[in-house]
Amino acid sequence: MKQAETIPETFLGVGYTRDRAGLPLEAVRVPVRQPANDQVLIRVAASSLNPLEYKLADLNFMGRTPPVALGLDLAGVVVAVGPAVSGVAVGDVVAAMADLNGDGGWVATGAGGGDVGYALTQRFLTARKPPSLGFRDAAALPMAFLSAFAGLYRAVQAGDSIYVPGGGGGVGHLAVQMAARALGAGLVISSGSTPQSIALARQSGAHHVFDYKRDDIPAEIAQLTDDQGVDLVFDATYSEHGFVETARTVRRGGSWIVLGVGPGRTTRLVETQSPVDAMLAERGAKRVDVNLLRYFSEPATLDSEARAFLQRGMALAMEWATQGLVVPHIGRTIDSTVEAISAGLQSLKAGHGVVGKVAVIVDHDLVRDTSSDR
Ligand SMILES: NC(=O)c1ccc[n+]([C@@H]2O[C@H](COP(=O)([O-])OP(=O)(O)OC[C@H]3O[C@@H](n4cnc5c(N)ncnc54)[C@H](OP(=O)(O)O)[C@@H]3O)[C@@H](O)[C@H]2O)c1
Repeated sequence: MKQAETIPETFLGVGYTRDRAGLPLEAVRVPVRQPANDQVLIRVAASSLNPLEYKLADLNFMGRTPPVALGLDLAGVVVAVGPAVSGVAVGDVVAAMADLNGDGGWVATGAGGGDVGYALTQRFLTARKPPSLGFRDAAALPMAFLSAFAGLYRAVQAGDSIYVPGGGGGVGHLAVQMAARALGAGLVISSGSTPQSIALARQSGAHHVFDYKRDDIPAEIAQLTDDQGVDLVFDATYSEHGFVETARTVRRGGSWIVLGVGPGRTTRLVETQSPVDAMLAERGAKRVDVNLLRYFSEPATLDSEARAFLQRGMALAMEWATQGLVVPHIGRTIDSTVEAISAGLQSLKAGHGVVGKVAVIVDHDLVRDTSSDR
């Protein structure tokens, strides 16, 4: 193992200390582990919030033994690498996603409060951060970008029509940008329920944005597509009601791509009957399930092809952000404290008050002082 600085044995993170503890999160003292073979240890500068974090605290469905530190999106400086790591070295400035069944790097003491957060990531989930991309933006990308990438990268053909409901959300706004600006979709339709989220979907490149609480979106899409429906739907909303509506917008022979556990299982606690599969079968449309969590909950799926795919995704996240093609919108920035993070996750859970991503500054000094960061 190669390392540059004295690394403490533990740090005070933000996470949960009991099985199914839920919100608010607590301060958790966790060990700073040395990187094994192909792992990278990062001193964390910035992170962002993802709904996964309140879901893990609520349900602990990855079967972890608490205490668990959260904060899985990472941007920071490499402080140690395992013996098999190449292409990333101590001192490099990087963005990364921690393993979704691992620990994160939020510190409980608040940015500038004296403590430093560390997180382990795998080499293939780590990309060098271009100097022109700030820590805050870089840290807003990994999980949400990889989700959109996993859904769209191999699916969208130039000229396709696509419906991305919720284009003001963390995943949604990146998916709209990716489809419209990076992958060459010809018609991008989106939706939202507030003026702010509708505006973000528009700014992200959607040609038409509807209000999913007021408009008859299947009828609007039928009109825009000569009654055919869209080639693709990418639904990352986890809304059972929404799934039934978006399934009605896909064309015969098209693809209905869903992020996560899919219809009927979104609460993870009870399974409900969903008409979506029957609706898709009736239209001759294909259902495609996309789930980043599956790679970590069913380790056999994290094969060399999956690793290469996710590594390509992390590299493209950095590249497309610097080119201005897929740029995260930071709706709010908070300090890394138990209170601020718990309140931010509570807002995400309640489904209000957040547009785009919530950034977390973990280390103000690092964010300010690194000359390669702007
Ligand atoms: N398994 C995986 O691989 C994976 C990976 C990443 C994320 N996820 C999950 O994906 C979901 C989205 O994540 P996120 O970070 O994007 O969350 P987010 O930032 O909270 O965004 C949720 C979005 O959904 C929209 N929405 C809710 N109900 C809708 C409906 N009926 N029709 C259209 N849009 C609707 C909201 O729109 P308004 O705000 O305008 O109402 C909002 O834009 C979360 O449940 C997250 O846990 C899963």
